[in-house]
Amino acid sequence: MEFPVYLWYIGGGMKIAVVGTGYVGLVTGVVLAELGNDVICVDNDPGKVARLSQGIPTIYEPGIDEMLKRGIAEGHLVFSHDAAEATRQSEIVFIAVGTPPGEDGSPDLTAVKAVANAIAPAIDKYTVVVNKSTVPVGSGDLVESIIRSHHIAEHLFDVVSNPEFLREGSAIFDTLNPDRIVIGAKRKEAAHRLVELYAPLERPMHITDLNSAELIKYASNSFLAMKISFINAISRLCETCGANVGDVAKGIGSDARIGSQFLQAGLGWGGSCFPKDVQGLVATADRLGYDFRLLKETIEINDTQTLHFLNRLDKRLGGFADKRIALLGLAFKPNTDDIRDAKSLIIIEEILRRGGTIQAYDPIAAENVRALYPQIQYVDTLYDVGKDADAAILVTEWNEFKQLDFSRLGAPMRQRILFDGRRIYRREAIERAGFEYATIGA
Ligand code: UDX
Repeated sequence: MEFPVYLWYIGGGMKIAVVGTGYVGLVTGVVLAELGNDVICVDNDPGKVARLSQGIPTIYEPGIDEMLKRGIAEGHLVFSHDAAEATRQSEIVFIAVGTPPGEDGSPDLTAVKAVANAIAPAIDKYTVVVNKSTVPVGSGDLVESIIRSHHIAEHLFDVVSNPEFLREGSAIFDTLNPDRIVIGAKRKEAAHRLVELYAPLERPMHITDLNSAELIKYASNSFLAMKISFINAISRLCETCGANVGDVAKGIGSDARIGSQFLQAGLGWGGSCFPKDVQGLVATADRLGYDFRLLKETIEINDTQTLHFLNRLDKRLGGFADKRIALLGLAFKPNTDDIRDAKSLIIIEEILRRGGTIQAYDPIAAENVRALYPQIQYVDTLYDVGKDADAAILVTEWNEFKQLDFSRLGAPMRQRILFDGRRIYRREAIERAGFEYATIGA
């Protein structure tokens, strides 16, 4: 009788340490434990370690709660603050710490270096050190040189780059079903350890050199951001010539060479990855002597997209002074409470600056925005958001907004004006409910 490959792994899994329990680290650790490996997740924040040890997730992500609890209950997943001890007990050590943009836009590698310094003295048998953090070209070599500086013999370790492509909101699914797994290594033997680790996923694997793997991550995210900026630039043309960007996107996206994904025109891209990674690649290119103007323009289009839309509403209302605006959604995208580089923040900032007031609804991200903007009003129920509003803006395309009862939304509004920043509504349905409707690229 044949068993699925992953069953073979249960009980025979590898010993893994994952240093850093942010988004990428935690999801990676939890999924690797689910696959039957023994995983120690390490974080230097004792509060986080304590919460996670009790099975309480520190991020909002569908599916993580059950998987975390299961990993702990089955003894495959433990949490610790001690990176050195975790390294001693492991054959593969993942570095999955944050690389926030530094002053010039290039990623700040302080945390990566600190981890390399912390784990190096604990390498006393062959260990594969895997960079999962998004790090610029050359960082694998840097980690290797840091470990070497602790007089660790060359044959005792290898550094591998294994970039992560998970999306927030579907992180568990993406980690279990990646389109591809990229493994960059100097020596085949090291890459093969990772091939073995990921074999149960049965997904295509690309084995490359270190620098190529590091570049693949930045190039992928930059390309996707460029695709969105491209369609957003087309949306501006559509608005001036009376075309519809939805139809244009469908028309170009059905060419298999272009593809239909990431052609949804809207307020622009945000989140924890695209802004940081596009900036990061521009900075890397600058460092390497190449002026990546294509990406600079990609950023420029994105930076002006939300303001352009807001200016249309400003014009329609005759200015925001003394106007009350309802915001539907605050998160940078649906299914997450993440507000990093969320378009809602630009909208709030601008409307307040221009003298307007705001009331907002988001199913889960409201508390995060409240910490930054305590002066605006947050409502707990969707249909309360319209009370006395002069206009509503759809900022985040949460599923619960897709089947709105427009009459109910509009009933308490002062004026029924809806500006749809994500193109999720059909004009006829909204106009039938007595709304004036405006959207991007139409
Ligand atoms: C992204 C990448 O998809 C993922 O592979 C990488 O590992 C991390 O960065 P994420 O930031 O979670 O993931 O979100 P994603 O779904 O890719 O959306 C990014 C941004 O682009 C969001 O602000 C979203 O609203 C915007 N977007 C996306 C569009 O405006 N239009 C689209 O067609 C797609």
